[in-house]
Amino acid sequence: MDGSADQHLVAIEVTVNGESRQTTIRPNLLLVDFLRYELGLTGTKEGCSVGVCGACSVLVDGKITTSCLTLAAMTDGCEITTAEGLADQDQLLPIQQSFIDHGGFQCGICTSGQVIAAKALLDQNANPTEAEIKDWMMGNLCRCTGYYGIIRSIENAAGE
Ligand code: FES
Ligand code: FES
Repeated sequence: MDGSADQHLVAIEVTVNGESRQTTIRPNLLLVDFLRYELGLTGTKEGCSVGVCGACSVLVDGKITTSCLTLAAMTDGCEITTAEGLADQDQLLPIQQSFIDHGGFQCGICTSGQVIAAKALLDQNANPTEAEIKDWMMGNLCRCTGYYGIIRSIENAAGE
């Protein structure tokens, strides 16, 4: 036994925002920390750290995932989309532009998670009702906007 810390690392290969990443990580490394500190993708925010607020939401194989509760090693072989991967170069998605146009954020801490969740909703339901939006977005908390701006932003992006 050589006592090297490296023997405890695990190899993973993931595609993040369309880019293939191969690396070795600690088996207990959380996905939010992998994204923020290993890859420098600080668009993903950490709010509660216990799976309640939705601020850390990313898409893993198209599904909303709370990255504060997910081990990065569990995403081996997966496709991950973070807030940085939504825009096409400088062209914002309609849902991103709508958050700007319709007051969907104030401090911004929850915003990348809100936009990720809203994108996942609109991907599967292009014209959700207000009730469907409220139901879907229930897992994303915001301390600033009072939610009306967020709902309005999603309604206005719907169908675009
Ligand atoms: Fe992950 Fe709040 S930081 S759900
Ligand atoms: Fe501040 Fe939502 S914009 S927490």
